[in-house]
Amino acid sequence: MSTAASKITAAANAAQTILSVNNIEVIYDHVILVLKGVSLTVPRGGIVALLGANGAGKTTTLKAISNLLRAERGEVTKGTIEFEGERVDKMTPNDLVRRGCIQVMEGRHCFGHLTIEENLLTGAFTRRDGNAAIRRDLELVYTYFPRLKQRRSSMAGYTSGGEQQMCAIGRALMSRPKMILLDEPSMGLAPQIVEEIFEIVKSLNDQEGVSFLLAEQNTNMALKYANYGYILETGRVVMDGPAQSLRENEDVKEFYLGIAEGNRKSFREVKSYKRRKRWLA
Ligand SMILES: Nc1ncnc2c1ncn2[C@@H]1O[C@H](COP(=O)(O)OP(=O)(O)O)[C@@H](O)[C@H]1O
Ligand SMILES: [Mg+2]
Repeated sequence: MSTAASKITAAANAAQTILSVNNIEVIYDHVILVLKGVSLTVPRGGIVALLGANGAGKTTTLKAISNLLRAERGEVTKGTIEFEGERVDKMTPNDLVRRGCIQVMEGRHCFGHLTIEENLLTGAFTRRDGNAAIRRDLELVYTYFPRLKQRRSSMAGYTSGGEQQMCAIGRALMSRPKMILLDEPSMGLAPQIVEEIFEIVKSLNDQEGVSFLLAEQNTNMALKYANYGYILETGRVVMDGPAQSLRENEDVKEFYLGIAEGNRKSFREVKSYKRRKRWLA
């Protein structure tokens, strides 16, 4: 292909792909290798699920993208990360927020001693477009999260876990993101609240065009709302595919059964077990 043609192809890909993570390796404390070559793509306007058991490397992947690893003595030692076609792996977290990519951390992290509304307003700190625009967006957040409007003057520390998760997402929205990296929004919440939150994520995706990369241990729920999924195991992607086909995949089902019985199997175990079965038959 000519250089001009390949430039056009690259530009077209960048237009359709909002985030691409290419074969990244992450090391903590100079020695602990946690991600061993992870690649993934989020199409513009997509909801992509990053699945896997506790300790698989989901949070590390999200923090590598949002440049929050350095605070944890972690480092991306190989590979590249591109947001809207631009290398972002050497930027600061704030640079990335200004470009439109923001992380909602696991465990919610609201300021307990501030009201819900004050918490939401802290999300606008990178903006330079003035108070009127910020107020308009606050009202927009309230239309998606009516519960937050009811609780706007309550101290966040005294609101429920579900309300705090909503507040954390709402605060991220106040930066006017194109993409949100959402880490385990379902953690510790009742199924009904989880469903309510995922419905709001879906409508933000539909109506505001926000793309999501969603790290979840709750595979069932995540695959219900995502278009595509990646399954991580000990720092590697062991399977990926459209959400529908992952939901119907026998290995994925077996993996869930492992969870239901309380003795979680790994994909690799499931696969080698199948090979043994075939060998015996
Ligand atoms: N700051 C850190 N220093 C050293 N090891 C870490 C650190 N954070 C996470 N890890 C290790 O990295 C692995 C992946 O963790 P994490 O990304 O939090 O997984 P997940 O979010 O999928 O539960 C785990 O083995 C964890 O112990
Ligand atoms: Mg995690």
